[in-house]
Amino acid sequence: MAPQHRWQNFQTSIFSIMSAEASAMGAVNLAQGFPDFNGPGDIIQAAADAMKKGLNQYAPAMGIMPLRDAISRRYGKTYDLKYDAEREVTILSGATEAIWCAVQAFCGPGDEAIGIAPFYDSYPAACHAGGATLNTVALKPPHWRVDADEIARLVTPKTKMILVNTPHNPTGRVLTRDEMEGIATVARKHDLIVMSDEVYEEIVFAPATHIPMASLPGMHERTITISSTSKTFSFTGWKIGYACAPEKLTEGIRRVHQFTVFCSATPLQHAMVRAFDLGDDYYRQFRADYLTRRETLLAAIRSAGFVAPTPEGTYFISGGYEKLAPGTDDIQFTLDLVRNHKIALIPLSPFYLPGDPVAKGLRQVRFAFCKTPETLAAAAEILCRDNLKPAIL
Ligand SMILES: Cc1ncc(COP(=O)(O)O)c(C=O)c1O
Repeated sequence: MAPQHRWQNFQTSIFSIMSAEASAMGAVNLAQGFPDFNGPGDIIQAAADAMKKGLNQYAPAMGIMPLRDAISRRYGKTYDLKYDAEREVTILSGATEAIWCAVQAFCGPGDEAIGIAPFYDSYPAACHAGGATLNTVALKPPHWRVDADEIARLVTPKTKMILVNTPHNPTGRVLTRDEMEGIATVARKHDLIVMSDEVYEEIVFAPATHIPMASLPGMHERTITISSTSKTFSFTGWKIGYACAPEKLTEGIRRVHQFTVFCSATPLQHAMVRAFDLGDDYYRQFRADYLTRRETLLAAIRSAGFVAPTPEGTYFISGGYEKLAPGTDDIQFTLDLVRNHKIALIPLSPFYLPGDPVAKGLRQVRFAFCKTPETLAAAAEILCRDNLKPAIL
């Protein structure tokens, strides 16, 4: 008899399911949140150079110093946030590993964390691994606004951490200063750590601006800021992420990291030093390209009958389909879409904890626009040409 494992309640992720469906159907895949194009050629060349130079063995566990320096300089320049490269910046295998290490370090058995659903699915998994309970507030469409009073109501003497994500996957929200201040007030009042997942910090559309949690008064000392080169330089498969936090918090993260992967891919870290040398033009063009993609897809989505607020950041759009398929469950809706119309999207209910009443009647799907103009044109053609309704009902 096969032994029971401790992860019986975690099913195959909806991302894997939808991608498998998409490839079986030969569908246009707007489900998975990674670009279907390469990041800058210079960065690829830098990785090849590093490999040829023989930089192929284990890196220092905390990350190579030139990359930690580059990240420290970028935080200083962009947000006026000071992180000591030696003691306060750590390179990890993607933001996913950073989140994992942050939660394991500070949320153990009997502890509680507060999450803001919908969220990236590694948050509940990390809490489960630590033995901590994740209590959640549930955002609702169409505004998806964070109410700090709801967060405050979840705080107990066992609460250790609040898990925040801005710009926000999957809603495309960029939390306002008021919302961030509200969360910060709860954290300061109850002496909580904030894990602030800011991986989409460079994909923000004016007039929205990204406000790092650590930049708010009294928050630098209690915030673990997590980001990643995955999104900023379009190399999600390289998994080079990082965490910046004061020394005491960094120590915990590093201890876990040492026994999780020990170190991240050496030549790819060297390549990312070159990535951080890219000037402001890179970031301007990067945002302009994403703005064009957003506009293309948003127009198609709306003309197909989805109700979609304009995303302020990230490369995701959340759209409501109630008018197209009233009463249809979101997983069924996306399965019908991929099978009958050959377009793959992600339902939003799996971004909530199982059984969350808000998720039950949500009727929302996520579209990813980190795609080439050709992919977006193919998606737009399906959305605008097909009458989505009859196949679904
Ligand atoms: C909110 C959020 N955090 C973290 C990650 C993971 O980033 P990485 O590829 O660096 O592990 C993602 C990826 O989709 C994400 O959406």
